Amino acid sequence: MYTQTLVRRSPRSYDQRMASSRDAAHSDPSAYRSAYDRAEQDPEGFWLEAAEALEWTRPPTRAVDDSRAPLHRWFPDGRINTSVNCLDRHVAAGRGDQDALIHDSSMTGTVTRYTYAELLAEVARFAGVLRGQGVERGHRVIIYLPMIPAAPIAMLACARIGAVHSVVFGGFAPNELATRIDHAQPTVIVTATGGIEPKRRLEYLPAVAEALEAASHQVSAVVVKHRDGFETALADVEGRGGARWADWDELAEQAQDADPVPVAATDPLYILYTSGTTGAPKGVVRDHGGHAVALRWTMENIYDVGPGEVMFTASDVGWVVGHSYIVYGPLLAGATSVLYEGKPVGTPDAGAFWRVIAEHRATALFTAPTALRAIRKADPEGELVQEHDISSLRVLFAAGERLDPETQAWAGRTVGVPVVDNWWQTETGWPIGANPVGLEVLPVKVGSCTVPSPGFHVAVLDGLGEPVPAGTEGNICLRLPLPPGTLTTLWGDDQRYIDSYLSAFPGHYATGDSGLVDEDGYLFVMGRTDDVINVSGHRLSTGALEQALATHPAVAECAVIGLADPLKGQRPSGYVVLKSGVDTPDPGSPDEQDLLEELRQTVRRQIGAVADFRDVAVVEALPKTRSGKILRKTMRQIADGEDYTVPSTIEDRSVLDELQTVLRPRR
Ligand code: COA
Ligand code: AMP
Repeated sequence: MYTQTLVRRSPRSYDQRMASSRDAAHSDPSAYRSAYDRAEQDPEGFWLEAAEALEWTRPPTRAVDDSRAPLHRWFPDGRINTSVNCLDRHVAAGRGDQDALIHDSSMTGTVTRYTYAELLAEVARFAGVLRGQGVERGHRVIIYLPMIPAAPIAMLACARIGAVHSVVFGGFAPNELATRIDHAQPTVIVTATGGIEPKRRLEYLPAVAEALEAASHQVSAVVVKHRDGFETALADVEGRGGARWADWDELAEQAQDADPVPVAATDPLYILYTSGTTGAPKGVVRDHGGHAVALRWTMENIYDVGPGEVMFTASDVGWVVGHSYIVYGPLLAGATSVLYEGKPVGTPDAGAFWRVIAEHRATALFTAPTALRAIRKADPEGELVQEHDISSLRVLFAAGERLDPETQAWAGRTVGVPVVDNWWQTETGWPIGANPVGLEVLPVKVGSCTVPSPGFHVAVLDGLGEPVPAGTEGNICLRLPLPPGTLTTLWGDDQRYIDSYLSAFPGHYATGDSGLVDEDGYLFVMGRTDDVINVSGHRLSTGALEQALATHPAVAECAVIGLADPLKGQRPSGYVVLKSGVDTPDPGSPDEQDLLEELRQTVRRQIGAVADFRDVAVVEALPKTRSGKILRKTMRQIADGEDYTVPSTIEDRSVLDELQTVLRPRR
C-alpha cells in the first residue's frame, strides 16, 4: 500500500481543463473536508442547499424525516417531477438544441442523437402511450430492453406520470423476469423485438412471452419497440400471457403528449432488483426527491461533469450504474450522456471506448475494472489509444467491483488521466467512497477507493458491533440516516429491509462488504462478507445459482462459490452431489461431460447467460458443519490457494481432504 500522485497526460492541460469547469469553491484545497464536515454537522442545511439546484413544484422546507426511524425519508414536504428536472428545465433554460443523449451502437454501426428538446418530445409522447395503456401514478412498469434509446425514454416517461419503473437487465433469463413480474406486479411491460450480442441476436419477444406465462401476475399490455433483424413478430406472440401486445411506434402516433405529474419527493421513482444472499432478489426502492438531489450533487462534486459536457458511462441501463450515470445523473446536470451499445473488446476491437470518447468528445469515462482488464488483455501496450484523439477526457471512473492496482496503473498509463475508483452498491445509488474530483482531487492510495462521500458516515465494526482501530479490517457499516438518494426500503417489505440491512448492527446499515479505514481516513474495500459474488461487475447470488442447479433431477445438493478470476474478478464455480440411485459417471467420461453440460445449461436457462456458469464438478459430499451449514468460505479458500483453518465444527474432516483434489486444480 503506498501513496502515488495522479498520473496525468499533461499536468498543465489537465489543470487547465479542470479549472475551466470549476468555480472558486472547486479550487479550495480543503473543499472535500469542508463539504464532509458540513454534511455531518448540518445535514439539514447541506442537503436543503443542494436541493436548491432543482426545480420543485413545492420546495422542501425539511431535509430528513426520522419519524419512522430506522426508515428515513428525505424532503418529506417537497413535491417534484424528476423528468421535468431531467428535461423541461434544461429546455426552458435554453439547452433545447444541445445533445441530451447520443446512442452509439458498435453493434449496428449507427449513431443517433437526441437534443434535449427532442428527448423531451419523445418522453412526453411515450408517457402518453403509457397512460393510454392504463398506467397511472404509482403503477409499476417493467422495462426489459437492450441498450437503445427506448430504455431511457421509457424510464423518463414513467417518471413523468409518477409511475414506478423497474428495469430488468436483458441478460436475465425468462425465469428471472417472471420472478420480478410477480414481485413488482406491473401494469405494462416495455420491451423490444431483440438485443444484439456479439455472437448472436437475442429474440426478446419469446422470452417475454415465456416469462408472462410462468408468472402468476396478469400484465395488461406489452409495448414493443420494433428493431429490424429479428424473427419473431408481434403477430407471433399476440395474446400470449393473456396480455395485449402493441407496437410502440403505432401507439405513439395516436397518443397525446402527457404533462408532468408533480409527485411527493418521497414517492417511489423506481425499483431495481439486485441479488441478495437468497434466491429471491431484493427490490431496492429509490424515491424522487432524494434521488434527484443526490445525483445532481454528485455530478458536480464527485464526477465533475457539468452542463454541456459529455459523460460516457459504459454500463447497462439494467444495472444501478446505468440508472444513475447513463440516465438520471447526466440529464439532471444538463450534460450529454452517451448510451453505448457494444462491448469493450471485439466490437470491433479493444479501441471501441477510445473511439467513442474521441467521436463524442467525452470528458468522463465510467466503466467496470473488468472492461479495462479485457481491453488490456487484447491491447496490452494500449496501442489503439494512439489511433484516437482522446484529449477531451479528464477522468476515468471505475466501479462495480474492486479496482486492482495493476489495472488502475495500466489504465492511468494508457489514457493519461486520473483513474478514480468509486465504491457503491445498488442500494446506495451513488458512491459511498470516491475521490471527489469535482470538489478537490485528493492523492490516490492504491487499493483504496479514497474517502467517504459527504453524507455517508462510515463505521468499521467488529462482529460484536464495536468500532475497530484504524487499519483493522471489519464490517463496513454506515451510521443512519443514510444520505438522500439511497434506498428508502425494499419494495413492499419494510421488514425485509430492516432484517437484511439494519438489524445486524443497530443504528447502522450493513453494506455486506468488509474493509478498513486507515489513519488518513482512506477507505479500503476488501470483499463481500456474504454469499454475493461479482462476475464482470455483475452482482449475482450464489444462492440463486444453487437454487437453479438444484432443479436438475440428478442433483441431491450443491454449493456454488465465487473464485478469483483474472478477467472477470470472480467466476462462479459449482459442486454437486448426485442423488442416491443416480449412477455417478466416471470422471472425464462422455457421460460425465453430458451431465456437466446439462447442469451448465440448467443455470443458463434459469438465470441467464450473464451468470457465465462454466465451472462445475460432481463430488462425493460437501463439507458441512455439524449443524448442516456448507463451508463455502473454506471451499473458496482451498480453491483460491489461500491459507485456511478447518473449522472445529466440521462434521467430517475427510470430506474436505477429498474435495481438495477437486478444488485445487481449479485455480
Ligand atoms: N443481454 C443478453 N445477454 C448478455 C448481455 C445482455 N445485455 N450481456 C451479456 N450477455 C451474455 C453474453 O452474450 C455472453 O453469452 P455467451 O455465453 O453466449 O457468450 C454471456 O452473457 C457472458 O457475457 P459477458 O459477461 O459479456 O462476458 P464475455 O466473456 O462475453 O465478455 C467482457 C467479457 C469483459 C468484455 C464483458 O464481461 C464486459 O463487457 N464486462 C463489463 C461489464 C460491465 O460493464 N459491467 C458494469 C456493471 S457496473
Ligand atoms: P452492485 O450492487 O451490483 O453495484 O454491487 C455492489 C457490490 O460490488 C459492492 O457491495 C461491492 O462488493 C462491489 N463493489 C462495487 N464497487 C466496488 C469498488 N469500487 N471496490 C470494491 N468493491 C466494489
